[in-house]
Amino acid sequence: MCGPRSHTQAGRQPRRSRSHRVYPPGHFDKIRKGHVIQCRVIKASPRTEIVFGPSLLERLYAYRGQKVGIVTDAFMAKSGVLDRVQNYLTDCDVLVFDEAIPEPPVDTVSKIARLLADFCPDAVIALGGGSPIDSAKAILAIVRETMPGRRIPSIAIPTTSGTGSEVTSFAVISDPAKGRKFPLISEDLVSDVALLDPEFVRTAPPKVTADTGMGVITHVVEAVVSTEASHFTDAFAEKSLALAFENLPKAYDDGNNLAARDAMHQASCLAGLAFSAAGLGVNHVLAHALDARLHLVHGRINAVLMPYVIDWNAKIPEAAEGYARIAQRVGLDTPSTRAGIRAIEAFNTHFAIPSTLRGLGVDMEEFGRIRSEIVATALADACTASNPRKPSQPELESLLTRVGG
Ligand SMILES: NC(=O)c1ccc[n+]([C@@H]2O[C@H](COP(=O)([O-])OP(=O)(O)OC[C@H]3O[C@@H](n4cnc5c(N)ncnc54)[C@H](O)[C@@H]3O)[C@@H](O)[C@H]2O)c1
Repeated sequence: MCGPRSHTQAGRQPRRSRSHRVYPPGHFDKIRKGHVIQCRVIKASPRTEIVFGPSLLERLYAYRGQKVGIVTDAFMAKSGVLDRVQNYLTDCDVLVFDEAIPEPPVDTVSKIARLLADFCPDAVIALGGGSPIDSAKAILAIVRETMPGRRIPSIAIPTTSGTGSEVTSFAVISDPAKGRKFPLISEDLVSDVALLDPEFVRTAPPKVTADTGMGVITHVVEAVVSTEASHFTDAFAEKSLALAFENLPKAYDDGNNLAARDAMHQASCLAGLAFSAAGLGVNHVLAHALDARLHLVHGRINAVLMPYVIDWNAKIPEAAEGYARIAQRVGLDTPSTRAGIRAIEAFNTHFAIPSTLRGLGVDMEEFGRIRSEIVATALADACTASNPRKPSQPELESLLTRVGG
């Protein structure tokens, strides 16, 4: 859609396009009356069929008699969750990979992709938190390349309410040999079907609920101030944040509160739609770099970083305006950055999430040794481009020093 930018978007810097966005020639830099008029393209209409409500696993009957690959983790295999899914795969030939781990290493992804390609699946199911879903997405991208012209639908069944990976065009994988973690970004990674059943999340312990739930809030907060944000992505983000602010404490305090679980599951998916289109920023960039070296829990390190990153970004007026807007949207007493930071800190305290890396148990000597390297990795991360404040090496080093504690 072309035209002058709206009031709240006015004053933003020109957006940097990410590689998967295609803008027709001449769409940018049209100068009229001294203003830059930009045409924007967002992928807010998801390719994924998002299924929620009762009896949704019956959708799996569609694969009756077919060859189905399942990517999951050891917990899902042992706890009976996998059996629950397999019960709906009537007369199917099923091959299960249950070794998914966070930020799947490239070697494991390639190995499973080879085995799955030999199996020649008709469909692939990803069952679990962000780790199995990201693994399946990366694996399937390779399998599809080896089978050009063959359509292999992908079905994601999230069991955490956190990453939104079931609808995003991201998959985070790692290269342990280089101590690096990197997001793959491609429309080809987007799942065809997402089955959002809160029953699958009921067993998540409070710590997993809190860590993943704070991941939802980080996704939203970054999407809202992203240089690629728009009213469309704000619509997903703001609804997600309202749901998460109201329901995350309820789901944490009582894991059997299915209404709160359901709201968090949808909040996570909405946040995925928001950040998949708007992008992320320095919070995730630092989290990726820190996890890769220090093996931290994704949602938890994002939660620790969030108050510091908000404070640092808020020096940019457009970012401060975004933070104030969402503070108002969730009903904080004062619609300001400061009130937003206090609310995040209060959540972290309620969920027993520490406020520093030291509190997380990070070895501070090792941290001191690798801090510059972490910052260099962060600056090279694809998500840096959409952060509202452009970071320099010294700025990120000083921010990390404060997070260290
Ligand atoms: N693709 C994306 O858009 C995206 C976005 C954010 C994060 N990520 C990636 O997602 C991964 C993290 O995913 P996550 O936070 O969902 O955690 P996870 O998938 O690693 O799961 C965390 C732990 O919780 C357990 N668990 C999951 N569901 C459970 C349930 N219902 N009951 C009991 N235990 C359960 C798992 O077995 C595991 O031990 C990271 O690799 C991160 O980089 C991807």
